[in-house]
Amino acid sequence: MKAIVFCEYGSADVLKFEDVEKPVPNDNQVLIKVRAASLNAFDAYVIRDSWLGRLIFGLRKPRDTRLGQDIAGQVEAVGKNVTQFKPGDEVFGISRGALAEYACTFERALVSKPPNVSFEQAASLPLAGLTALQGLREGKIQPGQKVLINGATGGVGTFAVQIAKSLGAEVTAVCSTRNVDLVRSIGADHVIEYTKEDFTKSDQRYDVIFDNVCNHSFAERRRVLYPKGICVLAGMGGAGVKGSEAIGRIAGNLFTARALSSFTDQKFAQYRTKSSKQDLIMLGDLVKTGKLRPVIERTYKLSDAPEALRYLNEGHARGKVIITVEQDNKR
Ligand SMILES: NC(=O)c1ccc[n+]([C@@H]2O[C@H](COP(=O)([O-])OP(=O)(O)OC[C@H]3O[C@@H](n4cnc5c(N)ncnc54)[C@H](OP(=O)(O)O)[C@@H]3O)[C@@H](O)[C@H]2O)c1
Repeated sequence: MKAIVFCEYGSADVLKFEDVEKPVPNDNQVLIKVRAASLNAFDAYVIRDSWLGRLIFGLRKPRDTRLGQDIAGQVEAVGKNVTQFKPGDEVFGISRGALAEYACTFERALVSKPPNVSFEQAASLPLAGLTALQGLREGKIQPGQKVLINGATGGVGTFAVQIAKSLGAEVTAVCSTRNVDLVRSIGADHVIEYTKEDFTKSDQRYDVIFDNVCNHSFAERRRVLYPKGICVLAGMGGAGVKGSEAIGRIAGNLFTARALSSFTDQKFAQYRTKSSKQDLIMLGDLVKTGKLRPVIERTYKLSDAPEALRYLNEGHARGKVIITVEQDNKR
């Protein structure tokens, strides 16, 4: 089968579209014929040449050459202990090596795809949708609360704006000028263009800041939080943020956030997105019922995944970047 692989660290140029062995599911796994996958900032971090990446993913070269996490497709075969799926079922969820014609994953990482949700829409949901949903939960949002989403137009941000609105919040979206219409179209009540205005310098206060970018100091963000406000630290600005800067923001989140939260009533909440069947079902239902509209800016063929990652690396993708696999299967 064809797959995207990387055998060395580097830019998107290290990605190769190659023939590899078709995976075989073990007793607890499901083999999926991939119809669509989506890219995340995580995919860019995995291939990037950094000391942190080498510590995690393999010192001299990547231990696992597969790429991709978010998957939607049809079940091709199941292991003998799999009870919830059978061949032909349409599913979506999380699978290593999603950028391939076939991928294997555990049944706990998959849910059924609602029939009226496309494979592309379903593939957009897992990592970005779970990150938005679980992060907003950390913010304990109540109807009527003022919520600011910093980095509102990327994969996570476009879901966060819509989910916060569905929870009854008054949402302020922070984005670049070209995305003002987009964030309004997905429900933002107020928009701040970060090129013209710094939200941390305004007199407006917020109950919750959902921060996808973390490009302001803790003091600046505390200034615009209500005394019992919560700042949810979701990310550090997507694939566009370069290595040392990203590590600086992660370190700040790790150490300062915890220390500050124990000294003031304002909280800085950190979390790691978890795979959750229940949450994936909830996201699928929200799309099925029209309450959540995945924003899909660009769709690429599997063989063009390097170009797709190059685009994501520019740091200004609108919503999700999708890879479709059916064209390659039909060749
Ligand atoms: N906590 C977790 O477990 C977890 C899980 C998944 C992802 N994440 C993190 O979440 C973050 C966002 O991921 P993503 O997939 O949404 O990335 P993305 O699709 O690349 O989006 C990044 C967004 O950042 C915005 N941006 C860039 N500079 C900005 C600035 N100065 N002010 C405000 N917005 C700015 C861009 O908007 P414009 O084009 O309008 O500039 C773009 O929409 C990443 O750091 C990722 O690592 C965390």
